[in-house]
Amino acid sequence: MDSLFKKKCDQVNLTLDRITNKTVLDIPTQRFNVPKGFKEFNEMIGLPIHPGTGEETEVFDYQVDYFDAWQNHHKLILNKSRKIGATETALRIIAYNCLVGNYSDHRVMIVAGNKQDVANRFIQRFKSLFYKGLTDLNNKRFEYEDIVIQEDSKSCIINGTYIQAYPANESVRGEENVICVFMSECAFINLIDDSKVYNALHPNVANIKEADFVMESTPNGKRGFFWANFDANSEYHKLEQDYTVSLGQLLDEEFIKAEQSNPRIDFQQEYGCKFTTSLSAAFKEDEIIFEEKEINMYEDL
Ligand SMILES: Nc1ncnc2c1ncn2[C@@H]1O[C@H](COP(=O)(O)OP(=O)(O)OP(=O)(O)O)[C@@H](O)[C@H]1O
Ligand SMILES: [Mg+2]
Repeated sequence: MDSLFKKKCDQVNLTLDRITNKTVLDIPTQRFNVPKGFKEFNEMIGLPIHPGTGEETEVFDYQVDYFDAWQNHHKLILNKSRKIGATETALRIIAYNCLVGNYSDHRVMIVAGNKQDVANRFIQRFKSLFYKGLTDLNNKRFEYEDIVIQEDSKSCIINGTYIQAYPANESVRGEENVICVFMSECAFINLIDDSKVYNALHPNVANIKEADFVMESTPNGKRGFFWANFDANSEYHKLEQDYTVSLGQLLDEEFIKAEQSNPRIDFQQEYGCKFTTSLSAAFKEDEIIFEEKEINMYEDL
């Protein structure tokens, strides 16, 4: 590693524990010369491994669409089919923005699951993108420890960016200097009123106009802030990617046919981006008939 840079790191001597809400993130920025294109960037850091073949596989066009929407709109909702590689793409987009320097001197919040240990798995997965190290466009070699300069189970520092994982609860309130919030599977927050999480999180990006606030999920009924923001004329750019975007790529046709004919699977919701009611609901939505009637006595019910 560049010895000057290492010296600067030592001087700063900034431990993860000492970073509080009020700290200005004066962490040295490492200079990486990385390709601007998302596909080329992924070739540089190492391509995703296809779970079916075990082979490295190129990033697909619909994954580049996710990248483009993130970079252009900043406030984004992705309504997605299961298993199309969305989380992988999101973590790679965050990696891109860290390495090109778009997130330097700022904080990134990855919000996932209801427990800290579930959230931590996202940081592990994020860090694993750098296991192979990289050779940048200047032919300069960086090993893992040159890229991830500090880490613990829930956070890491990369190129002047502090990235931390949070469970989806009110602990997400009050962070400062946040340039990116990414929420994964946010229609599945296990709360009767999940708007508390959204309301705690959203002000964190209030001070930076171009900050990224990205919500990604498979639908889970007509309820919660994911549905409300996707349905409404909200500030978010809406991107919808159903199973057809990845048919023959990450989803094979036979698997999809089997899922379609499985009565225990709500295919339209899991793979078709439709907000149906949950299969665990006592009544199906189309079985409920709305009738207006004046009710004065219990017997009128
Ligand atoms: N372009 C790609 N080529 C090959 N494999 C990929 C590609 N993109 C993602 N993958 C792999 O596909 C698998 C599923 O990815 P991921 O978990 O990101 O999907 P998802 O849409 O978030 O799924 P879920 O519905 O479970 O949240 C992972 O093993 C991931 O590494
Ligand atoms: Mg996912």
